[in-house]
Amino acid sequence: MKATFNRKGSDELLAADASGQLAIPAPAVSPLRQSRRKSRWPARLDLLQSASGLFLALFLMGHMFFVSTILISNEAFHTVARFFEGAYFLGRPYPILVSAVVIVIMAIFIAHAWLAMRKFPAGYRQYRAFITHKNRLRHSDTSLWWLQIWTGFALFIMATIHLYDMLTQPALIGPFESADRVWTGSMWPLYLMLLFAAELHASIGLYRLAIKWGWFTAATPNRSRRRLRWAKHALSAFFITLGLVTLLAFIDLGRNHAAHAGERYVPPQHSAAPARH
Ligand code: HEM
Repeated sequence: MKATFNRKGSDELLAADASGQLAIPAPAVSPLRQSRRKSRWPARLDLLQSASGLFLALFLMGHMFFVSTILISNEAFHTVARFFEGAYFLGRPYPILVSAVVIVIMAIFIAHAWLAMRKFPAGYRQYRAFITHKNRLRHSDTSLWWLQIWTGFALFIMATIHLYDMLTQPALIGPFESADRVWTGSMWPLYLMLLFAAELHASIGLYRLAIKWGWFTAATPNRSRRRLRWAKHALSAFFITLGLVTLLAFIDLGRNHAAHAGERYVPPQHSAAPARH
C-alpha cells in the first residue's frame, strides 16, 4: 500500500511504502544517466540488512531461552553454560569458545547497525522533513520505524557493554557468577533497559521484515497487517515477561549470595563431602 502527499511549497511527492518508511526523493537524474548508474548494491545491502536482522532476532530468542534456564534450577543454568564452553564434547570447558561466538555476534551486530544507518535521515533538513511528514501522515508503521531507530541507537550502547563483558569474562557465566554480576556488579538496571530495547527492536524488526518480504500474508493487505501486528505484540509480551521473570530470579539469587559474592558455583555432585571410612 502506498500513501502519497505533497511537500510544503513543492510539487514533489513523498511516498510511504507498506512498512511505513518514507522515501525522501533524490534529485532528478536523466534516464540515460540512470540506466548507466544502475547498481545492484542497494538491493544487495537491503537483503544483507534483512538477513543480519533476522539472524540477530533469532539469536536473541535462543539466548533468552538459554538464560531463562535459571528458572528451572541453578544446576540447569550451570549445565547450559558449560555446554557452550564445549565441556560435554571436548572433555573440559573452554570459555574461549564463548568469546569466539561473542566476536561473531559483535561483527554481525556492527554490520547490521552500519547497514541500518544508510536509511537514517542525513542531516538536520532531512530530519525535519521526516518529522513533519511522520506527524502529518500519522501512519502507525512510520512511527514504528522511528521507534526502531531509537531502540537501535540505545542498543548500540547497551548491548556493546554487555557483549564486552561476555567477551572478556566468558568463564564467569554460571548461576552465582551471573547473579553476582547482576546484583553485586550492579548490572540489573542496564539489563532491564536492554531487555525492553532489544525485545521491542527485534519484534518491530521481524514485523517489518514480514511486511517487506510478504511473509504470512492473508487474503487482504489490511488483514495481513492486523495479523502481523498481533504476532508482534504477542512476541514482545512473551519475551519481555520471560526476561523480567528471569532478571528477577538473578536479582533474588544475587541478593542472597551477596555476602559470598565472587564465590563460584559448584554443582552438588562435585561439592558432596568425601565419604567417611
Ligand atoms: C554471544 C553473545 C551473548 C552472550 C554470551 C550472552 C550471555 C548472557 C548471559 C550469560 C546473561 C545472564 C546474565 C549475566 O551472566 O550477566 C545474559 C543476560 C542478558 N542478555 Fe545476553 N548474551 C549475549 C548477547 C546478547 C545480546 C546481543 C543482547 C541484546 C541485544 C543480550 C541481551 C541480554 C539481556 C537483556 C539480558 C538480561 C536477561 C533478562 O532480563 O532476563 N545479550 N546474556
